[in-house]
Amino acid sequence: MKIAVIGYGGMGSFHAECLQQYSKSASGERIELAGIYDIDPARAALAKERGIRAYAGADELLGDASVGAVIIATPNDVHAEYVKAAAAAGKNIICEKPVALSLQQAEEMYGYAEKAGVLFEVHQNRRWDDDFLTVKNIYDHAENIGSVYRLESRVMGGNGIPGDWRKKKAQGGGMMLDWGVHLIDQMLQMVKSRVLSLYCEYSYIYGEEVEDGCRLSVKFENGVEYLVTVATDCFCNLPRWQVYGTEGTATVTGWDLSGGMTRAVVRHDDAIAGIRAGNGFTRTMAPRVGDTVEQKPLPLVHAEPFAFYKNFAAACAGKEKPAIVKDEVLRVFRLMEAAERSAKENIVVKEII
Ligand SMILES: NC(=O)c1ccc[n+]([C@@H]2O[C@H](COP(=O)([O-])OP(=O)(O)OC[C@H]3O[C@@H](n4cnc5c(N)ncnc54)[C@H](O)[C@@H]3O)[C@@H](O)[C@H]2O)c1
Repeated sequence: MKIAVIGYGGMGSFHAECLQQYSKSASGERIELAGIYDIDPARAALAKERGIRAYAGADELLGDASVGAVIIATPNDVHAEYVKAAAAAGKNIICEKPVALSLQQAEEMYGYAEKAGVLFEVHQNRRWDDDFLTVKNIYDHAENIGSVYRLESRVMGGNGIPGDWRKKKAQGGGMMLDWGVHLIDQMLQMVKSRVLSLYCEYSYIYGEEVEDGCRLSVKFENGVEYLVTVATDCFCNLPRWQVYGTEGTATVTGWDLSGGMTRAVVRHDDAIAGIRAGNGFTRTMAPRVGDTVEQKPLPLVHAEPFAFYKNFAAACAGKEKPAIVKDEVLRVFRLMEAAERSAKENIVVKEII
């Protein structure tokens, strides 16, 4: 299958590079990069320098009968029009996240693909991140730290909102659509339970028209509490993941998969000694010591390389089901819209999602 990329910026060029590497790997359905189209002549020139065909326009690209599928990696406000055009041209489609600017627009976009009978998948690639898969392993298997009842998932940068369009509301900017969408998708993949309520706060530290960070707290029907944090104002990061179980606590420090699990050998240490803390004394906050806890390495999980592309190609060939489906994507949007309402109105949203 030949695939072309629309929008050859940061993510579009990443896709092109991955596809070139994937086409050299022996396993899975073959995919070959046909070329790119970018509205910016400088990006088209860069592609050519790299030996990649640069189509003169989107019409030329979509009119190329040898192209079976497209990847749309433009700014968020341009996704919908390209999905509509690509579906009408009979191409299978991968669209970058966030697929749309709203739940309603996402529904319309699935409508274009359904009407045309083409495969339409949103690139929720962080389902294959090793840190997420490792935490999911901890969540799914009680022998690690017992039954998990609280998770904290966070990403933190210290450089504000990057680029230009990410700062503009009309272009689908803001950190909820940028990173929130990934962390919420991961959350809903991990916790297979209904959302009962949520509370969200947006931050505007840099004074942009869109939020530069968000903190979302979710309560699930199965009792799990989940905190999602996206920050762009932090110079000293907290761990990527903190996971609390009935028998221990796990920390994944960052994408390098550093961290570990601390398991309770004795759940309550009645003999715990107190410590001096500031101007006082505490037993409650004293660290666990000695043989009442044990340290364990993280039960690491590594994703298969190119798993998303492999699945997409197999799904196009009718050999596998697509990994990312409409109901999942729309549920993430329902949750993001409830979170926005919570942040704007400063309310707990009690809604089954
Ligand atoms: N899944 C991920 O891990 C991930 C990571 C980064 C970005 N993204 C997503 O990828 C998309 C692009 O983000 P980016 O960081 O690459 O942005 P970017 O600004 O680096 O690149 C966007 C490119 O699209 C081009 N473009 C703009 N309007 C166009 C149009 N009408 N037709 C053709 N090309 C057009 C721009 O010239 C630019 O080269 C966004 O939807 C973003 O959310 C996803």
